Amino acid sequence: MNKKVLVIGSANIDYVYNVDKYPVEGETIVATSFSKFLGGKGANQALAVKIMNADVSFVCKIGEDNDGYEIIENLTNNKVNLPFITKSEKYNTGCAGIVIEKNGNNRIIVHPGANDDFDDKDIEKISQLFAEYEYLLIQLEVNLNFIEKIVDLAYRNDIKVILNPAPFKKISKSIIEKCFLIIPNETEFSKLIGKENIKDIKIIEVEAKNFVKNYKTNLLITLGEKGSLYISEEKSLYKKAISVKAIDTTAAGDTFIGGFIRTISKGGTLSEALDFATFASSITVTRRGAQVSIPSEDEVLDKMKEKPIQ
Ligand code: RIB
Repeated sequence: MNKKVLVIGSANIDYVYNVDKYPVEGETIVATSFSKFLGGKGANQALAVKIMNADVSFVCKIGEDNDGYEIIENLTNNKVNLPFITKSEKYNTGCAGIVIEKNGNNRIIVHPGANDDFDDKDIEKISQLFAEYEYLLIQLEVNLNFIEKIVDLAYRNDIKVILNPAPFKKISKSIIEKCFLIIPNETEFSKLIGKENIKDIKIIEVEAKNFVKNYKTNLLITLGEKGSLYISEEKSLYKKAISVKAIDTTAAGDTFIGGFIRTISKGGTLSEALDFATFASSITVTRRGAQVSIPSEDEVLDKMKEKPIQ
């Protein structure tokens, strides 16, 4: 039977500027193109699970504005279950400014807006949903005081908490220990352990094993072009990335996480989940935009048939 997934997190409007090269300090440059997309790590991940054909529910907080309306309309059109919709009375819907260079790499600045306005009333409503879910997927793009409380509550309700610590914020030991799985990228992992950007996979693996032992959690580190690494007390599993020509890496991590959770929630093995996630994100980076770049389950499965992972 499918295990039910609840995602709680951000929903943004992304303002995307494509440039040949990032401007240096004090420089003004002209973008080669500009687009507006639907994004936000929470919404991207929830949508990814759904588009790749698994059941998911999503709770987000929007402003009382057209942007919020557009976000909800798109999630509804894509059949993401929205148990309830919360609106901030104080803030507008969150947004992000994204600059993308020719090689597809991005720099993102998020303005949280309504995403940062989750409060105790939301916690009360969310707690009434808990009995239905096996997994809670959450990111750090919403207010930290809310994350502390909701993670604790989920943990006490025997829900497996999966945390994507992005964008990175310093989190307490008590949050980490309540997570069943933490999915950082390599930069976020370095920050999580208070070290300079570690690039060497061997060193990352050693540090990851120590982390898992100390905090009694599991880790899945996404390594961009270098692949991904899963570490638990019992297992260590590395998967290579698939080499493609990237034009926009926005939401590659979100698609990876969505693809991984889609497979686990449908009873797939860890190795199957990593393979599916790897193929899914390799498609996303060949398309522009966040949510519009997420492939369907069939697209991913077709690609997997073409070129199985070594
Ligand atoms: O992970 C990509 C997302 O980060 C973008 O959609 C943007 O909204 C930010 O949340």
